[in-house]
Amino acid sequence: MTKRTFHVWRGGGEGDLAQFEVEVNEGEVVLDILHRIQATQSPDLAVRWNCKAGKCGSCSVEINGRPRLSCMARMSTFDPGETITVTPLRAFPVIRDLVCDVSYNYQKAREIPSFTPPEDAEPGDFRMAQADVQRSQEFRKCIECFLCQDVCHVIRDHEENKEAFAGPRFLMRAAELEMHPQDTADRRKISQEEHGLGYCNITKCCTEVCPENIKITDNALIPLKERVADRQYDPVVWLGEKIGLR
Ligand code: SF4
Ligand code: F3S
Ligand code: FES
Repeated sequence: MTKRTFHVWRGGGEGDLAQFEVEVNEGEVVLDILHRIQATQSPDLAVRWNCKAGKCGSCSVEINGRPRLSCMARMSTFDPGETITVTPLRAFPVIRDLVCDVSYNYQKAREIPSFTPPEDAEPGDFRMAQADVQRSQEFRKCIECFLCQDVCHVIRDHEENKEAFAGPRFLMRAAELEMHPQDTADRRKISQEEHGLGYCNITKCCTEVCPENIKITDNALIPLKERVADRQYDPVVWLGEKIGLR
């Protein structure tokens, strides 16, 4: 057992860091320490968590300024003597302490048109190549922790962009459906014009923080950008838009 120094955000958006000296035992993660602070020093510390196994996406916070799951952040990975600072996700309004209002993400999820199979498709009609199945499976590993949404500079530093930008998690959903062989909707125009694909300048920070190691940028955002570009420079589409057909 050793003692470590923690700085933890307390209060709402106008809150401040509080210092705690806390016992740390072998094998523990940051979430264990937050629970110990609750149990021994600050019973009203607000912390969101559920599975403690990296699968529910509830315990997202920033640890020393980096968006992470607190249940997967091993104490043994920090330098001995390093102060550990835990703050709420910066891109979303703080409700209290480490708990944020992430409803922006639910709003954006609702704005992505749902899967649209062919109208005459009957049960059992769907046939998909294994490569298409695997592509979807990668994106479906998402646990909706919203770490990628939090880290993306488009909204992290610019609250005013939230209206026009769905964020990497939901642009990835649009890409997944756009590349789905059974989806009949054309999502290229709305991805660009309504969900803000053009704001993404491929910094790849979203991919770096994803706890499921989904290649958000390379496998979803860049292919979606390529499809949008194909559409924009297609002379038939260009002519159709000029005469009001598309
Ligand atoms: Fe979290 Fe990754 Fe899903 Fe983004 S894509 S919400 S980082 S699991
Ligand atoms: Fe943002 Fe990811 Fe693009 S961090 S800028 S959505 S590559
Ligand atoms: Fe479920 Fe951390 S508590 S992902």
